[in-house]
Amino acid sequence: MSSSSNQPTSPKQSVGPDYRDEKQKPTATVSTAVPFENVHTLPQTPQLIALLTMIRDKNTDRADFIFYSNRIIRLLVEEGLNHLPVVEHAITTPVGRSYAGVQFQGKICGVSIMRAGEAMEQGLRECCRSVRIGKILIQRDEETSMPKLFYDKLPEDIADRWCLLLDPMFATGGSAIMAVDVLKSRGVPENRILFLNLLASPEGIENFAKRFPQLRIITAFVDQGLDEKNYIIPGLGDFGDRFYTM
Ligand code: URA
Repeated sequence: MSSSSNQPTSPKQSVGPDYRDEKQKPTATVSTAVPFENVHTLPQTPQLIALLTMIRDKNTDRADFIFYSNRIIRLLVEEGLNHLPVVEHAITTPVGRSYAGVQFQGKICGVSIMRAGEAMEQGLRECCRSVRIGKILIQRDEETSMPKLFYDKLPEDIADRWCLLLDPMFATGGSAIMAVDVLKSRGVPENRILFLNLLASPEGIENFAKRFPQLRIITAFVDQGLDEKNYIIPGLGDFGDRFYTM
């Protein structure tokens, strides 16, 4: 699905609550459907589409880019946490009544793919206080053009944890595949890895979902495709540059 004149377009849909008349709902481009059960796309609500519109806009300045990205990251983390197991947990309220609730059982950690993935660490920390966070640096090898692992620092007991893998832009999936291979080599079972990203390409998803069928992908939006430089389109440009340096 590289850029060309017959590039498939993303679907358009009216956005807004079900009770509102269709004619009163604006139309917007929504996430492309993908046929993989392990891909979970955030509900295409007016809020999410508005937040994505802000960060996709080339005229959005860095402060707003950070602010609105952080709001989406928070939604992704909350959705990711929904996939972790809980056990029944009954409590008593201050008015003496019981409430049949649940509580999370297990240990988690974040693993960010440097540099852009580090932008998602704050959102994870806001939801999970004092969460352990590991880091993986993968860069393209100048000689072979293949992704190469340069650095990793992961919690020692990572094999016992649920891992939230963080990288905002899921383009070809080359770095993410290598990062998952590192996690698996440290004993993390595939079904305990959740890959959180803001924008995904159908190509990256297909590569990844077939290779790691038990790993869950949580994304805000599956975009149209990749251009000749492997940028996601319509995309938002270079996430790391817009978050850190522009
Ligand atoms: N990384 C980015 O920052 N943007 C893309 O479009 C693809 C990868």
